[in-house]
Amino acid sequence: MNQNDNASEGTNQSQTVLSAAQPTGQLTLGNYLGALRHWVPLQDQYANSLYCIVDLHALTVRQDPQELRQRVMELAAIYLACGIDPQRSTIFIQSHVPAHSELNWLLSTFTQMGELERMTQFKEKAQRHKTNINAGLFSYPVLMAADILLYDAHKVPVGEDQKQHLELARDIATRVNGVYGKIFQVPDPLIAKEAARVKDLQDPTKKMSKSAPSELAKIMLLDEPAKILKKFKKAVTDSEGVIRYDEQNQPGVANLLTIFRACTGQSEEEALAHFSHNMYGKLKVETGEAVIAALDPVRTRYQELMDEPGYLAGVLKEGAVQARARAEGVMGRFQEALGLTLDGTRFGDA
Ligand code: TYM
Repeated sequence: MNQNDNASEGTNQSQTVLSAAQPTGQLTLGNYLGALRHWVPLQDQYANSLYCIVDLHALTVRQDPQELRQRVMELAAIYLACGIDPQRSTIFIQSHVPAHSELNWLLSTFTQMGELERMTQFKEKAQRHKTNINAGLFSYPVLMAADILLYDAHKVPVGEDQKQHLELARDIATRVNGVYGKIFQVPDPLIAKEAARVKDLQDPTKKMSKSAPSELAKIMLLDEPAKILKKFKKAVTDSEGVIRYDEQNQPGVANLLTIFRACTGQSEEEALAHFSHNMYGKLKVETGEAVIAALDPVRTRYQELMDEPGYLAGVLKEGAVQARARAEGVMGRFQEALGLTLDGTRFGDA
């Protein structure tokens, strides 16, 4: 991961890490390799870590309420199955901490329309959705900035596709601080050097995404081994017939090598030496097998956790209590600076 720690901010041991994912269907191998697997070791490296389930972001697309509830529980089980430990991290549901919505509004008054219009994810999604291009979709990155700034997060581990959103969060924080003094911690993205953008198996020029219409394009975290192998065997490559790392001219092969390396821990040299004189068939099968081995413990643990709904609910309840308490400090500071409190309090506050 890119660790551009600022020495003046103290050591990791006093810093906070925060990240999140949307509860919109099963996660992909891209979510796992680009983000979730990195969250686990950070629990040992940083003083505080918070992992949020962003159900409000999911509402930018119409959701069936029953299904959304189920997806939230499934995502909580996935976080735990990947190794997020509720003893060391706060795992919580975004909408259960109302301050996210309040801060979203306040920050939107510090965000320019032009900044949001430049967001590539909005442009992509607006093109894909065609109908229901709602204001929430447009201001999605402001809510994301609120998620981060609410907890004084120093580091935000994400895949490359979230980089632009992180830059906006930094800009908003810096802008507010410029007016009112230090209200917000300016967050740094933590983007892995490897597999920060896992590609679609059928069109390796695009990122692997849940929303890809073809099942063959994406590996889902809970796919059965046989299905994973089948998808890798059908992965699109090229007609060069040589295994080398050339993202420009051989994006399919480069993507398979990236996935293989991310799951085996091999360096580029080791992987290329391993496959030298081999055909694409071996690369596809061995990449599939490496992914199966990496995801197997996650799938097993996930099944066990889904049989313990009471435990999952307890973790989320405790997480909400902790997150609400943490959010109070930043909100209080910002409300005070903006003039939303009278003599330091708001009517009705305890
Ligand atoms: P989401 O739910 O789309 O994705 C969750 C995480 O997975 C990463 N990711 C990928 N990484 C590598 N290759 C891919 N193909 C790939 N696809 C997804 C994403 O970069 C992300 O880290 N806006 C965010 C959720 C969010 C958030 C936040 C994240 C809301 N508030 C605050 C961090 C901090 C999103 O939609 O992620």
